[in-house]
Amino acid sequence: MTLLRPANAEDLGFLLAAEAAASKAGFVSANSREEHLAAMSSPDAAYFVIGDCQGYAIFLGLQSPHHALELKRVVITAPGQGLGRRAFQELLRYAFVERKAHRLFFDAFDDNARALHLYRGLGFREEGILREAALRQDGYRNLVLFSMLAAEYETWTRAPATGRSR
Ligand SMILES: CC(C)(COP(=O)(O)OP(=O)(O)OC[C@H]1O[C@@H](n2cnc3c(N)ncnc32)[C@H](O)[C@@H]1OP(=O)(O)O)[C@@H](O)C(=O)NCCC(=O)NCCS
Repeated sequence: MTLLRPANAEDLGFLLAAEAAASKAGFVSANSREEHLAAMSSPDAAYFVIGDCQGYAIFLGLQSPHHALELKRVVITAPGQGLGRRAFQELLRYAFVERKAHRLFFDAFDDNARALHLYRGLGFREEGILREAALRQDGYRNLVLFSMLAAEYETWTRAPATGRSR
């Protein structure tokens, strides 16, 4: 992995600032410093810094008996420059190769056009809409549920959906 490194408590300042900005823009929910600290030390979670403090990602469910990993949060601080697409290659590798996940899933607000475009372009399957499942400042919002299965990842590694070249 070249773009991901495990995050630690010293990265919390960066992580919280990035999360606050993304949350204010309505792209993600936010957690407190205490909640992140507790999750960081949990064997069920994995925190990564992306690039040179250009983003972060959080996985949950490392201990799932169903081998279902959740990508709980991903934030890129300078979006729209291709870093998200590159980071996802490594996030997928972490989930399916290192953690041997059977299923990777996550959700996105249905008005997050950039994220939806990226996830669709990467070949994630859409499983449906969680109607008004999240309360944002502007009211209850729909979430789109995405997933990829291990067998689909195998196919994907042979011919990754490239998005830009399509
Ligand atoms: C969503 C996110 C992780 C994607 O990472 P990124 O580095 O911005 O993504 P990339 O630059 O690699 O790719 C973005 C894609 O969306 C497209 N795009 C950019 N702005 C767009 C818009 N407003 N509407 C639709 N598509 C858009 C780009 O053209 C690119 O597609 P392409 O590769 O087919 O050309 C990042 O934007 C981010 O962290 N945003 C804020 C927090 C957030 O939304 N997190 C995800 C919550 S589910």
